[in-house]
Amino acid sequence: MADKKKMSVAEIMAAARAQKAGTPSQGVPPAADAESTAADAATTQDSTAPESAAKPDPKPAAKPGAKAATGAGGRPSVAEIMALARSKAAAGATESAPKPTAPKAAPAAKPAVEKPAAKTAAKPATKPAVARDTASILAAARAGAKPGPVSKADAPPRPEVKKQVPERPAAERAPAKLAAAAVPAKPVKPAAKKGAEADEDRRGFLEIALGSFMAMGFTALSVTGGLFSLGLARYFFPNVLAEPPSRFKVGFKEGFPVGKVETKFVAQYGVWVVNSDVGGQQQVYALKTVCTHLGCTPNWLEAEQKFKCPCHGSGFYKDGVNFEGPAPRPLERYAIRLSDDGQLEVDKSRTFQEELGQWADPECFITV
Ligand code: FES
Repeated sequence: MADKKKMSVAEIMAAARAQKAGTPSQGVPPAADAESTAADAATTQDSTAPESAAKPDPKPAAKPGAKAATGAGGRPSVAEIMALARSKAAAGATESAPKPTAPKAAPAAKPAVEKPAAKTAAKPATKPAVARDTASILAAARAGAKPGPVSKADAPPRPEVKKQVPERPAAERAPAKLAAAAVPAKPVKPAAKKGAEADEDRRGFLEIALGSFMAMGFTALSVTGGLFSLGLARYFFPNVLAEPPSRFKVGFKEGFPVGKVETKFVAQYGVWVVNSDVGGQQQVYALKTVCTHLGCTPNWLEAEQKFKCPCHGSGFYKDGVNFEGPAPRPLERYAIRLSDDGQLEVDKSRTFQEELGQWADPECFITV
Protein backbone atom coordinates (compact mmCIF):
# COMPACT_ATOMS: atom_id res chain seq x y z
CA MET A 1 0.00 0.00 0.00
CA ALA A 2 2.88 2.22 0.63
CA ASP A 3 3.95 1.73 -2.96
CA LYS A 4 0.52 2.62 -4.24
CA LYS A 5 0.46 5.83 -2.37
CA LYS A 6 3.66 6.91 -3.88
CA MET A 7 2.62 6.37 -7.50
CA SER A 8 2.38 9.44 -9.51
CA VAL A 9 -0.05 10.16 -12.24
CA ALA A 10 2.62 9.56 -14.80
CA GLU A 11 3.29 6.13 -13.46
CA ILE A 12 -0.38 5.38 -13.41
CA MET A 13 -0.70 6.51 -16.98
CA ALA A 14 2.29 4.43 -18.00
CA ALA A 15 0.79 1.41 -16.36
CA ALA A 16 -2.44 1.92 -18.13
CA ARG A 17 -0.74 2.21 -21.44
CA ALA A 18 1.25 -0.88 -20.83
CA GLN A 19 -1.88 -2.73 -19.88
CA LYS A 20 -3.46 -1.60 -23.04
CA ALA A 21 -0.45 -2.78 -24.96
CA GLY A 22 -0.60 -6.14 -23.20
CA THR A 23 2.45 -5.78 -21.01
CA PRO A 24 2.12 -5.16 -17.43
CA SER A 25 3.89 -2.15 -16.14
CA GLN A 26 6.91 -2.63 -14.17
CA GLY A 27 6.61 -2.51 -10.50
CA VAL A 28 2.90 -2.03 -10.55
CA PRO A 29 0.88 -4.94 -9.42
CA PRO A 30 -2.27 -5.63 -11.32
CA ALA A 31 -4.44 -5.17 -8.32
CA ALA A 32 -2.77 -1.98 -7.41
CA ASP A 33 -3.00 -0.91 -10.96
CA ALA A 34 -6.69 -1.53 -10.95
CA GLU A 35 -7.17 0.30 -7.73
CA SER A 36 -5.16 3.26 -8.85
CA THR A 37 -6.92 3.22 -12.15
CA ALA A 38 -10.22 3.18 -10.37
CA ALA A 39 -9.18 6.06 -8.19
CA ASP A 40 -7.96 7.89 -11.20
CA ALA A 41 -11.16 7.12 -12.99
CA ALA A 42 -13.08 8.45 -10.08
CA THR A 43 -11.02 11.58 -10.15
CA THR A 44 -11.39 11.91 -13.88
CA GLN A 45 -15.08 11.21 -13.65
CA ASP A 46 -15.29 13.92 -11.12
CA SER A 47 -14.03 16.39 -13.65
CA THR A 48 -15.43 15.09 -16.92
CA ALA A 49 -18.57 13.25 -16.13
CA PRO A 50 -21.85 14.92 -16.90
CA GLU A 51 -23.68 16.58 -14.11
CA SER A 52 -26.35 13.95 -14.09
CA ALA A 53 -23.77 11.17 -13.61
CA ALA A 54 -21.83 13.10 -10.98
CA LYS A 55 -24.38 12.98 -8.32
CA PRO A 56 -22.77 12.40 -5.04
CA ASP A 57 -22.53 8.77 -4.38
CA PRO A 58 -23.71 8.04 -0.95
CA LYS A 59 -21.34 5.22 -0.78
CA PRO A 60 -17.70 5.92 -0.75
CA ALA A 61 -16.08 5.30 -4.11
CA ALA A 62 -12.93 3.96 -2.56
CA LYS A 63 -13.87 0.40 -2.90
CA PRO A 64 -12.28 -0.50 -6.21
CA GLY A 65 -12.38 -4.10 -5.47
CA ALA A 66 -16.08 -4.17 -5.54
CA LYS A 67 -16.24 -2.24 -8.83
CA ALA A 68 -13.62 -4.49 -10.40
CA ALA A 69 -15.67 -7.47 -9.44
CA THR A 70 -18.65 -5.84 -11.05
CA GLY A 71 -16.66 -5.40 -14.25
CA ALA A 72 -15.87 -9.00 -14.29
CA GLY A 73 -19.56 -9.72 -14.63
CA GLY A 74 -19.59 -8.67 -18.30
CA ARG A 75 -19.43 -4.98 -18.17
CA PRO A 76 -16.08 -3.31 -18.67
CA SER A 77 -14.36 -2.43 -15.49
CA VAL A 78 -13.74 1.07 -14.43
CA ALA A 79 -10.10 0.67 -15.11
CA GLU A 80 -10.80 -0.39 -18.60
CA ILE A 81 -13.16 2.46 -19.16
CA MET A 82 -10.70 4.91 -17.79
CA ALA A 83 -7.88 3.48 -19.83
CA LEU A 84 -9.92 3.67 -22.97
CA ALA A 85 -10.87 7.21 -22.24
CA ARG A 86 -7.33 8.15 -21.56
CA SER A 87 -6.12 6.54 -24.72
CA LYS A 88 -8.63 8.53 -26.68
CA ALA A 89 -7.64 11.65 -24.92
CA ALA A 90 -4.01 10.90 -25.40
CA ALA A 91 -4.52 10.38 -29.09
CA GLY A 92 -6.05 13.85 -29.37
CA ALA A 93 -3.66 15.51 -27.06
CA THR A 94 -0.53 14.04 -28.55
CA GLU A 95 -0.52 16.49 -31.36
CA SER A 96 -1.07 19.58 -29.24
CA ALA A 97 0.40 18.56 -25.93
CA PRO A 98 4.03 19.20 -25.31
CA LYS A 99 6.34 16.44 -25.12
CA PRO A 100 6.10 14.56 -21.97
CA THR A 101 8.88 15.35 -19.70
CA ALA A 102 10.52 13.06 -17.35
CA PRO A 103 8.30 12.23 -14.55
CA LYS A 104 8.89 14.31 -11.53
CA ALA A 105 7.68 12.03 -8.99
CA ALA A 106 8.16 14.12 -6.02
CA PRO A 107 6.08 17.26 -6.52
CA ALA A 108 3.59 15.94 -9.06
CA ALA A 109 2.54 13.02 -7.18
CA LYS A 110 0.61 13.92 -4.37
CA PRO A 111 -0.60 10.55 -3.63
CA ALA A 112 -4.11 10.11 -4.58
CA VAL A 113 -4.53 8.18 -1.44
CA GLU A 114 -3.86 11.17 0.71
CA LYS A 115 -7.18 12.45 -0.29
CA PRO A 116 -9.71 9.88 0.49
CA ALA A 117 -11.24 8.66 -2.69
CA ALA A 118 -14.57 8.67 -1.09
CA LYS A 119 -14.21 12.35 -0.33
CA THR A 120 -13.12 13.07 -3.83
CA ALA A 121 -15.89 11.06 -5.34
CA ALA A 122 -18.40 12.54 -2.99
CA LYS A 123 -17.81 15.98 -4.31
CA PRO A 124 -20.64 16.98 -6.53
CA ALA A 125 -19.59 17.48 -10.07
CA THR A 126 -21.23 20.91 -10.32
CA LYS A 127 -18.36 22.59 -12.08
CA PRO A 128 -18.12 21.88 -15.79
CA ALA A 129 -14.78 20.74 -17.06
CA VAL A 130 -14.74 23.31 -19.78
CA ALA A 131 -12.49 26.17 -18.84
CA ARG A 132 -14.13 29.54 -19.20
CA ASP A 133 -12.83 32.96 -18.93
CA THR A 134 -14.07 35.61 -16.56
CA ALA A 135 -16.25 37.28 -19.10
CA SER A 136 -18.11 34.10 -19.92
CA ILE A 137 -18.51 33.29 -16.26
CA LEU A 138 -19.94 36.72 -15.54
CA ALA A 139 -22.21 36.44 -18.57
CA ALA A 140 -23.48 33.10 -17.36
CA ALA A 141 -23.95 34.46 -13.88
CA ARG A 142 -25.83 37.43 -15.18
CA ALA A 143 -27.94 35.21 -17.36
CA GLY A 144 -28.78 32.97 -14.43
CA ALA A 145 -29.27 35.73 -12.00
CA LYS A 146 -32.57 37.39 -11.46
CA PRO A 147 -33.05 40.18 -13.90
CA GLY A 148 -32.81 43.46 -12.19
CA PRO A 149 -32.06 47.02 -12.99
CA VAL A 150 -28.44 47.83 -13.48
CA SER A 151 -28.94 51.50 -12.96
CA LYS A 152 -31.72 53.86 -11.98
CA ALA A 153 -32.30 54.58 -15.62
CA ASP A 154 -32.95 50.91 -16.31
CA ALA A 155 -35.22 50.56 -13.34
CA PRO A 156 -38.92 50.54 -14.14
CA PRO A 157 -40.80 53.49 -12.86
CA ARG A 158 -42.31 53.00 -9.50
CA PRO A 159 -46.03 53.10 -9.35
CA GLU A 160 -47.17 56.28 -7.82
CA VAL A 161 -48.87 55.73 -4.55
CA LYS A 162 -51.31 58.41 -3.76
CA LYS A 163 -52.09 59.14 -0.18
CA GLN A 164 -55.55 58.36 0.79
CA VAL A 165 -56.72 61.77 1.79
CA PRO A 166 -60.40 61.94 2.52
CA GLU A 167 -61.97 64.49 0.32
CA ARG A 168 -63.76 67.29 2.06
CA PRO A 169 -67.32 67.76 1.09
CA ALA A 170 -68.02 70.45 -1.41
CA ALA A 171 -70.11 72.32 1.13
CA GLU A 172 -67.00 72.84 3.26
CA ARG A 173 -64.70 73.72 0.40
CA ALA A 174 -67.00 76.26 -1.15
CA PRO A 175 -67.21 78.55 1.92
CA ALA A 176 -63.45 78.45 2.19
CA LYS A 177 -63.11 79.63 -1.36
CA LEU A 178 -65.76 82.23 -0.84
CA ALA A 179 -64.08 83.38 2.37
CA ALA A 180 -60.75 83.58 0.58
CA ALA A 181 -62.35 85.57 -2.18
CA ALA A 182 -64.21 87.79 0.28
CA VAL A 183 -61.14 88.69 2.29
CA PRO A 184 -60.28 92.19 1.25
CA ALA A 185 -56.82 92.93 0.23
CA LYS A 186 -54.67 94.35 2.92
CA PRO A 187 -54.25 98.04 2.58
CA VAL A 188 -50.89 99.04 1.52
CA LYS A 189 -49.09 100.75 4.29
CA PRO A 190 -48.05 104.21 3.34
CA ALA A 191 -44.45 104.83 3.14
CA ALA A 192 -42.84 106.21 6.24
CA LYS A 193 -43.01 109.93 6.31
CA LYS A 194 -39.93 111.86 6.31
CA GLY A 195 -38.63 113.54 9.42
CA ALA A 196 -39.82 117.02 8.51
CA GLU A 197 -43.32 115.88 7.73
CA ALA A 198 -43.48 113.87 10.92
CA ASP A 199 -42.35 116.86 12.95
CA GLU A 200 -44.92 119.03 11.24
CA ASP A 201 -47.69 116.55 11.98
CA ARG A 202 -46.57 116.26 15.60
CA ARG A 203 -46.49 120.04 15.96
CA GLY A 204 -49.95 120.33 14.45
CA PHE A 205 -51.27 117.73 16.86
CA LEU A 206 -49.79 119.58 19.82
CA GLU A 207 -51.25 122.85 18.63
CA ILE A 208 -54.66 121.32 18.23
CA ALA A 209 -54.47 119.69 21.65
CA LEU A 210 -53.32 122.86 23.38
CA GLY A 211 -55.90 124.89 21.47
CA SER A 212 -58.59 122.51 22.60
CA PHE A 213 -57.52 122.77 26.23
CA MET A 214 -57.35 126.53 26.03
CA ALA A 215 -60.73 126.71 24.33
CA MET A 216 -62.22 124.54 27.05
CA GLY A 217 -60.65 126.74 29.73
CA PHE A 218 -61.90 129.93 28.18
CA THR A 219 -65.34 128.44 27.75
CA ALA A 220 -65.49 127.46 31.41
CA LEU A 221 -64.25 130.90 32.43
CA SER A 222 -66.85 132.57 30.27
CA VAL A 223 -69.64 130.50 31.74
CA THR A 224 -68.44 131.25 35.28
CA GLY A 225 -68.28 134.97 34.53
CA GLY A 226 -71.79 134.94 33.10
CA LEU A 227 -73.18 133.20 36.17
CA PHE A 228 -71.40 135.66 38.42
CA SER A 229 -72.86 138.59 36.49
CA LEU A 230 -76.36 137.18 36.78
CA GLY A 231 -75.94 136.76 40.55
CA LEU A 232 -74.69 140.28 40.86
CA ALA A 233 -77.63 141.63 38.87
CA ARG A 234 -80.01 139.67 41.05
CA TYR A 235 -78.39 141.25 44.08
CA PHE A 236 -79.08 144.73 42.73
CA PHE A 237 -82.73 143.88 42.00
CA PRO A 238 -84.23 142.34 45.18
CA ASN A 239 -87.57 140.56 45.35
CA VAL A 240 -90.49 142.95 45.05
CA LEU A 241 -94.08 141.83 45.67
CA ALA A 242 -96.46 143.02 43.09
CA GLU A 243 -99.09 144.81 45.14
CA PRO A 244 -102.39 145.93 43.76
CA PRO A 245 -102.75 149.56 43.15
CA SER A 246 -103.69 151.56 46.23
CA ARG A 247 -106.71 153.02 44.44
CA PHE A 248 -109.35 150.88 42.90
CA LYS A 249 -113.02 151.21 42.00
CA VAL A 250 -115.56 148.96 43.68
CA GLY A 251 -118.66 150.01 41.73
CA PHE A 252 -121.67 152.25 42.10
CA LYS A 253 -123.08 153.00 45.54
CA GLU A 254 -126.40 151.59 44.51
CA GLY A 255 -124.66 148.28 44.38
CA PHE A 256 -124.28 148.36 48.13
CA PRO A 257 -127.67 148.08 49.82
CA VAL A 258 -128.35 149.36 53.34
CA GLY A 259 -127.01 147.12 56.06
CA LYS A 260 -125.04 145.08 53.55
CA VAL A 261 -121.35 144.04 54.10
CA GLU A 262 -119.67 143.28 50.79
CA THR A 263 -116.91 140.68 51.21
CA LYS A 264 -115.97 140.11 47.59
CA PHE A 265 -113.01 142.51 47.77
CA VAL A 266 -111.39 140.87 50.75
CA ALA A 267 -109.22 138.48 48.90
CA GLN A 268 -108.08 140.92 46.23
CA TYR A 269 -107.93 144.23 48.07
CA GLY A 270 -108.36 143.44 51.77
CA VAL A 271 -111.39 145.68 52.05
CA TRP A 272 -114.94 145.30 53.30
CA VAL A 273 -117.41 147.74 51.69
CA VAL A 274 -120.20 148.38 54.23
CA ASN A 275 -123.46 150.31 53.95
CA SER A 276 -124.48 150.90 57.57
CA ASP A 277 -126.05 153.39 59.91
CA VAL A 278 -123.42 155.20 61.90
CA GLY A 279 -124.61 157.75 64.53
CA GLY A 280 -127.98 158.17 62.71
CA GLN A 281 -126.32 158.72 59.27
CA GLN A 282 -126.43 156.12 56.46
CA GLN A 283 -122.85 155.85 55.18
CA VAL A 284 -120.85 153.72 52.79
CA TYR A 285 -117.29 153.18 54.01
CA ALA A 286 -114.36 150.83 53.49
CA LEU A 287 -113.00 148.85 56.49
CA LYS A 288 -109.49 147.47 56.62
CA THR A 289 -109.43 143.64 57.07
CA VAL A 290 -106.62 143.64 59.64
CA CYS A 291 -107.21 142.79 63.30
CA THR A 292 -105.94 145.50 65.61
CA HIS A 293 -104.64 142.88 68.01
CA LEU A 294 -101.85 141.13 66.11
CA GLY A 295 -102.82 141.55 62.48
CA CYS A 296 -104.97 138.54 61.67
CA THR A 297 -107.86 138.71 59.22
CA PRO A 298 -111.24 138.49 60.97
CA ASN A 299 -114.28 136.79 59.34
CA TRP A 300 -117.67 138.41 58.79
CA LEU A 301 -120.37 136.41 60.46
CA GLU A 302 -123.65 137.40 58.75
CA ALA A 303 -125.76 135.58 61.30
CA GLU A 304 -124.13 137.28 64.24
CA GLN A 305 -123.65 140.58 62.44
CA LYS A 306 -120.05 140.85 63.60
CA PHE A 307 -116.43 140.44 62.59
CA LYS A 308 -114.75 137.66 64.46
CA CYS A 309 -111.00 137.28 64.59
CA PRO A 310 -110.02 133.60 64.39
CA CYS A 311 -106.70 134.16 66.08
CA HIS A 312 -107.61 135.34 69.57
CA GLY A 313 -111.33 135.78 69.40
CA SER A 314 -111.59 139.51 69.14
CA GLY A 315 -114.98 140.66 67.95
CA PHE A 316 -115.95 143.80 66.08
CA TYR A 317 -119.30 145.33 65.30
CA LYS A 318 -120.49 146.13 61.76
CA ASP A 319 -119.19 149.70 62.08
CA GLY A 320 -115.79 148.26 63.18
CA VAL A 321 -115.80 149.05 66.85
CA ASN A 322 -114.19 146.31 68.89
CA PHE A 323 -116.32 144.83 71.64
CA GLU A 324 -114.65 141.56 72.63
CA GLY A 325 -111.34 139.91 72.70
CA PRO A 326 -107.88 141.32 72.99
CA ALA A 327 -108.21 143.83 70.22
CA PRO A 328 -107.32 147.17 71.80
CA ARG A 329 -109.10 149.46 69.35
CA PRO A 330 -111.57 149.56 66.49
CA LEU A 331 -110.80 148.58 62.90
CA GLU A 332 -109.38 151.25 60.59
CA ARG A 333 -111.02 152.80 57.52
CA TYR A 334 -109.68 153.59 54.07
CA ALA A 335 -110.36 156.77 52.18
CA ILE A 336 -113.28 156.55 49.77
CA ARG A 337 -114.72 158.86 47.26
CA LEU A 338 -116.99 159.13 44.25
CA SER A 339 -114.96 158.93 41.10
CA ASP A 340 -115.71 160.86 37.92
CA ASP A 341 -117.72 158.05 36.47
CA GLY A 342 -119.95 157.81 39.59
CA GLN A 343 -118.32 154.76 40.97
CA LEU A 344 -116.90 154.42 44.43
CA GLU A 345 -113.13 154.55 44.52
CA VAL A 346 -111.16 153.26 47.49
CA ASP A 347 -107.77 154.67 48.32
CA LYS A 348 -105.75 152.44 50.59
CA SER A 349 -102.94 154.88 50.90
CA ARG A 350 -104.79 156.67 53.60
CA THR A 351 -106.32 155.22 56.77
CA PHE A 352 -108.58 156.67 59.35
CA GLN A 353 -108.71 155.60 63.02
CA GLU A 354 -111.72 156.02 65.30
CA GLU A 355 -109.75 156.54 68.59
CA LEU A 356 -108.07 159.44 66.91
CA GLY A 357 -111.41 160.96 65.89
CA GLN A 358 -110.61 160.49 62.21
CA TRP A 359 -113.81 158.75 61.33
CA ALA A 360 -115.49 162.13 61.35
CA ASP A 361 -113.50 163.06 58.28
CA PRO A 362 -115.87 163.09 55.21
CA GLU A 363 -113.06 161.49 53.13
CA CYS A 364 -113.59 158.23 54.91
CA PHE A 365 -117.25 157.76 54.09
CA ILE A 366 -119.97 158.57 51.55
CA THR A 367 -123.43 159.38 52.67
CA VAL A 368 -126.32 157.79 50.88
FE1 FES B 1 -107.30 139.39 66.18
FE2 FES B 1 -105.67 138.73 68.13
S1 FES B 1 -105.33 139.21 66.16
S2 FES B 1 -107.72 138.94 68.17
